[in-house]
Amino acid sequence: MLEKRLLEAGQNHIARLLEDRVPFLSRERIEEDLTLVDFPLIQQLVNGNCLYEEPPKKEVAPAEVIPASFASSPGANTYRTRGEDLLRRGRVAALVVAGGQGSRLGIEAPKGVVKVSPVRDKSLFCLHAQKVLALSRNYGSTIPLFIMTSRINDAQSREFFAEHAYFGLDPDEVHFFVQGMLPSVTPEGKFLISREGGLFMNPDGHGGTFLALQKNGCLDIMHEKGIEEIFYFQVDNPLVKVCDPLFIGLHHESGARMSSKVVRKRGFEEKVGVIARVDGKTRVIEYSDMGDEIRYAADEGGAMLHWAGSIAIHVIRRDFVETLTRGDLRLSFHKALKTIPTLDEKGNPAEEKGIKFETFIFDALPLADTSITLEVLREEEFAPVKNMTGEDSLESSRSMQSDLYRSWLEELGVRLKPTTLVEISPLLALDRQEVHARMAGLPREIETDLYLPGLDEEP
Ligand code: UTP
Repeated sequence: MLEKRLLEAGQNHIARLLEDRVPFLSRERIEEDLTLVDFPLIQQLVNGNCLYEEPPKKEVAPAEVIPASFASSPGANTYRTRGEDLLRRGRVAALVVAGGQGSRLGIEAPKGVVKVSPVRDKSLFCLHAQKVLALSRNYGSTIPLFIMTSRINDAQSREFFAEHAYFGLDPDEVHFFVQGMLPSVTPEGKFLISREGGLFMNPDGHGGTFLALQKNGCLDIMHEKGIEEIFYFQVDNPLVKVCDPLFIGLHHESGARMSSKVVRKRGFEEKVGVIARVDGKTRVIEYSDMGDEIRYAADEGGAMLHWAGSIAIHVIRRDFVETLTRGDLRLSFHKALKTIPTLDEKGNPAEEKGIKFETFIFDALPLADTSITLEVLREEEFAPVKNMTGEDSLESSRSMQSDLYRSWLEELGVRLKPTTLVEISPLLALDRQEVHARMAGLPREIETDLYLPGLDEEP
């Protein structure tokens, strides 16, 4: 019985409220929420086990990074061709993580439905799906798209894809899977009540991707399809170069298990994690865990030593994920202290300090024997939508997208007014080479905002 289970788990306060039949608690909700709770794990976390501990960091060196200039060198072609070959042979899956709460953006809907493109107002989900469609057409193969959601946004995300006819993708090749949830707890380990009358729970972090892939049978699907490499990215970056063949080729040919893209940090204090070699292992040092000796480390000329900012784009071997999820190898949990909107004993809205437990995908990096790190240019590949205004916002992301597309046209000799917004559909061209190859005959001068659609798209 429900009360008994709660008492056994030390959650007497909730058992008592249920016994008292208080109107603000929903028995059904609590029951449903409890089915998701891994009690032994929560007990371990509350007791201080399974938690992430900063390694002692005896020796911290900058990561070995393949510079962005490599992409335009003749040596890059072998790797690009290798990546293209894997795409053509259907060996690559795209995986977007979209289970987060998007709290900084302050919207109720899933982040993927946010309209971000500068002229056409396309949603993040639309842009990613159209890129996958364009790639599948280019390579004459199928690139399955795996979308990680969480309980808070799964139904809405699926509906959005269905309403938009999967943006042209074959619905059988779009695989939604739901990540795990954990209850937030007080510092004493008590569950908190949500304002909807259930337990206050949070998604288990982007590190939950690995277990969620396994538990939802996605690794089996990938296995059956012959997928070798997973191209992992976050839903909130509209500039991501989905399934970049150069990155895939470099990673694959080096025998890497998990690889990363980085951009040069804007300055010493940009709040982003950096990739570094810590005691011989590649790992991300989070901004919050970074001491000043790393943050401000500079060479003799004053240049930043740890400039390799992680942008959460990875290629991960499928068999590495299988190894990670086999047996009981788990990523450690990070603790974050949050103000939780809850209800007091009388059912009045209240706020309480609570602990949220999460795992991070990049904690798998030091577990990979081999890993490569590739630098890319921020203005070409990273314009995340985290906030409404300011840095990394909807506003800045829109103008970065427009600036990039504008630069491609200007290279073709087109003149545009400084205020003109430009957007190029992924279904027309995915990069500057495709624009240059496909866009002969554009007017020399363009005065109004410009949207260039794909051939089978409405103008
Ligand atoms: P962020 O950490 O930026 O979080 O996630 P967020 O949920 O988008 O926004 P805030 O922090 O609440 O404002 C980076 C990416 O990881 C995904 C998010 O959906 C986003 O694509 N993510 C994060 C998950 O899929 N699951 C999680 O549990 C956490």
